[in-house]
Amino acid sequence: MELKISDSVRYLGVDDRQLDLFENQYPVLGGVSYNSYLILDEKVALMDTVDVRATAAWEEKLAAALGGRKPDYLILSHLEPDHAGSLGRLLELYPEVVLVGNAKTFAMLPQFFDVDLKDRALTVKEGDTLELGSHTLTFYMAPMVHWPEVMVTYESSENILFSADGFGKFGALETEEPWEEEARRYYFNIVGKYGAPVQGLLKKAAGLDIQTICPLHGPVLRENLAHYIGLYDTWSSYRPEEKGVLIACASIYGNTWKAVEELAEMLREGGEEKVDLCDLSHEDVSYAVAKAFRYDRLIVAASSYDGGVFPCMQEFLLHLQSKMYQNRTVGMVENGSWGPTAARAMKALLEPMKNITFLEPVVTIRSTLNEESRSALRQLADACVRG
Ligand SMILES: Cc1cc2nc3c(=O)[nH]c(=O)nc-3n(C[C@H](O)[C@H](O)[C@H](O)COP(=O)(O)O)c2cc1C
Ligand SMILES: [Fe+2]
Ligand SMILES: [Fe+2]
Repeated sequence: MELKISDSVRYLGVDDRQLDLFENQYPVLGGVSYNSYLILDEKVALMDTVDVRATAAWEEKLAAALGGRKPDYLILSHLEPDHAGSLGRLLELYPEVVLVGNAKTFAMLPQFFDVDLKDRALTVKEGDTLELGSHTLTFYMAPMVHWPEVMVTYESSENILFSADGFGKFGALETEEPWEEEARRYYFNIVGKYGAPVQGLLKKAAGLDIQTICPLHGPVLRENLAHYIGLYDTWSSYRPEEKGVLIACASIYGNTWKAVEELAEMLREGGEEKVDLCDLSHEDVSYAVAKAFRYDRLIVAASSYDGGVFPCMQEFLLHLQSKMYQNRTVGMVENGSWGPTAARAMKALLEPMKNITFLEPVVTIRSTLNEESRSALRQLADACVRG
C-alpha cells in the first residue's frame, strides 16, 4: 500500500518485523520502521534512505513513486546506518543525485562510503533554503539529537517538519499500540543523554508553523501535535511525566521480590495510584529505564552480590547514569545473608546523579522479611507516599 502524506509528499518507509534487537541492544517485539520520504515538485527531493536490511523493498517503493523521474536531491538528515545505509545503492541507481548535508555530514560520510563528493555535495547550514518549485526546504541543525551531524528540514508550503530521529518510535508502522510507551522507550534509551540539544531543537520548532511531523521511525504525526511536542519538552528537561513509583527489583532467590510485592501493596494502600513493579532479571533494561523516567519516584531493591549488588541492578543504574537520570526521589532496599552490601553499591551509582533525593530509611533485609525489616519497609512506603 502506498502511503501518501499529500499529493506531492510520499512515504517510502519500510517495516522491519524480523529485527530482534535495534542497535543490537533494544528488543523490538513490534519491529521497527525505517522511514524515508519523497517530495515531488519541479525538483524531486528524497528525504533519507533506509537501513540496508530494507534496501530492496525501499528501492521498489522509490521507483514506483518516482514514476520514471529521477531524484535531484537526497537530503541526509542523519548518517546513522539505519537511515543512510542505502546510500550506496541509491548512487548506483541514480548517480547524478546531489547529496544535501551540512559540514559535519560530509566530514563523516567518507567513513561509511567511498564516494567522490566533488560536484555531488551541497553543503547547507542553519537556515539555508532549497527551492524545489512550489516547495521550499529550510534546514535547521540539531546536533546530538542523536548524532552530531543531525539536521531537520522544514517544508513551508505544507508545514511539514522532517524531524530526523526526533519523535521516532519503536514498532512497525501498522503495530496497533499507543504512541507514548514505545516512543518514550525509544527517546530515553536512544537520545536520553542529550536533553539540552533536544530543548534547543524544540525552541527552533516553536518558531515554525508545524502541521505534520515526519520522523525517521514510527508513524507520521498529524493531529494533536501539541501533545507530542509537550511530551518531548517534559522528557528532554528531565521532568517526571507523572506521579508514580517504579519499583525496580533484582532478586536472586526471590525473597527480595516477595518483599517488593508487599511494598507495592503498602504503597497502594497508602493511596499511590501508579505503582509499577519491574523484575530486572527478566524485563529488558530499556523498559525499566523508560519507566524510571516516566515517574517521579523510584525504589531500587536488590540482593547483595560478591560484596556489591546483583549485576542486573548495577546495569540498570549504569544505564540511568548514562541517560542523565536526575530530579527524582529514590528509595533503597537491600538483601543479604551474611553481609549486606547492595545498598552501598547502589548509592555509589546513584550519588553522581543530579538532584536525587534519597528516602529514609534504607531497608535491609536479612534473607527473608521479618518483623523488623517489614516495619522498616512500611516506613519506607510511608516516606515514599509523602515524598
Ligand atoms: C554469587 C553470590 C554472591 C553473594 N554475595 C553476597 C554478599 O556479598 N553479601 C551477602 O550478604 N549476601 C550475598 N549473597 C547472598 C544473597 O544476597 C542473599 O542470600 C539474599 O538474601 C538473596 O536475596 P533474594 O532471595 O532476593 O535473592 C550472594 C549470593 C550469591 C549467589
Ligand atoms: Fe539515529
Ligand atoms: Fe534512527
